Amino acid sequence: MGQRVLLAVGGGAAAIKAPLVVRRLREAGFEVRTLATARALAFTTELALATVSGHPVATEGRWFAPSGRVLHLELAAWADLVLVAPATAADLARAAAGLAEDLLSATIVAGARRVLWAPAMNPEMWADPAVQENVARLKARGHAFAGPAYGAMAAVGEAPGLGRMLEPEELAAHVRYHLTEKDYAGRTVLVTAGPTREHLDPVRFISNPSSGKMGYAVAEAARDRGARVILVHGPTHLPDPFGVETVPVESAEEMHRAVLDRFPEADLVVMAAAVADWRPAERKGEKEPKTGEEKHLRLVRTPDILAELGEQKRHQVLVGFAMETHEGLSRAYAKLKRKNLDLICLNYPTDPETAFGADENRLVVIERSGRTEAWGKASKRALAERLLTRALGFMQKPV
Ligand code: C5P
Repeated sequence: MGQRVLLAVGGGAAAIKAPLVVRRLREAGFEVRTLATARALAFTTELALATVSGHPVATEGRWFAPSGRVLHLELAAWADLVLVAPATAADLARAAAGLAEDLLSATIVAGARRVLWAPAMNPEMWADPAVQENVARLKARGHAFAGPAYGAMAAVGEAPGLGRMLEPEELAAHVRYHLTEKDYAGRTVLVTAGPTREHLDPVRFISNPSSGKMGYAVAEAARDRGARVILVHGPTHLPDPFGVETVPVESAEEMHRAVLDRFPEADLVVMAAAVADWRPAERKGEKEPKTGEEKHLRLVRTPDILAELGEQKRHQVLVGFAMETHEGLSRAYAKLKRKNLDLICLNYPTDPETAFGADENRLVVIERSGRTEAWGKASKRALAERLLTRALGFMQKPV
């Protein structure tokens, strides 16, 4: 990617997380430079920021860049995006008023192209009308905001509230969103993810080890590319992605209902969920006590959601996943035909490096025409991006 992010660190307690923010941004592929206000350096250090960013830190009183150019002009011109994290009430006020009286506010006034604020302050300050007016003024000028979140405050004895800075990985995700080209603008993407649970009784169920990571990666990538995203997911340990409509479900029947309900809105459906194929014929209302005897379980089929979508589809592009332990290619292609899909992605659940729950995967992608491509091991996010690019090529309907 190589896009350039200036992390401007304001003087709040959350500044202790600034070096981690740099790390997460660099891991996401950005080139990062830092600026720290005088107060920020009461919480974090110049050496820490320089070490993790690999560049000298722009600090108060340094008015010239090594090039001899005025520092705030150079920084504003260099950065594709300025992330102010943490942003204090005073940082917001100076920027809203156009007061170029410190290096941070001067950089913003000097023509910063995109500004993303990550406020952090105690909840009383965040709720103050003066602060909220400044936020509204900055938004009206096209500035973006990430957070604050509800949560614990840094100072001892303070109650939790709305005013906590988002976590470093969340900030990196917001930056990525703002710097991604919106080639899915005007499209609605319906994604399913995770396992389903088929209960025998209130405390026992049949399920599978799906982590949901592949589907969540598709949902996040589609959101970053400007799609409206609906994520129907079974039980996972993953946090709800921001800017995505999440619909939590438990069983295959519930997923079936949720997906069919939202199908008419969708332009693209990516069924990455590991839907259970069978469920217990009956679900007991109470926990069954164990006995010494053998127990036989009668299983019945769950609805095949994707096959139904294949029957109903109009303009929608349908993508399925196939998980096979043998005869993968022929079985996957037969599924594509039977379920009337545009694309099917074959996974290898028994490969230890790309098994359930891994951050990486490899896929064999098969199209209706029979065209088949092997996509070698890569992060689930990178594979999701490739999949979305391919799916975009199938879309008939202009936005
Ligand atoms: O037939 P099979 O389960 O192998 O097909 C896998 C694909 O079908 C996946 O995309 C999965 O999400 C979807 N599927 C479904 N409903 C089921 C079973 C699988 O939509 N009951």
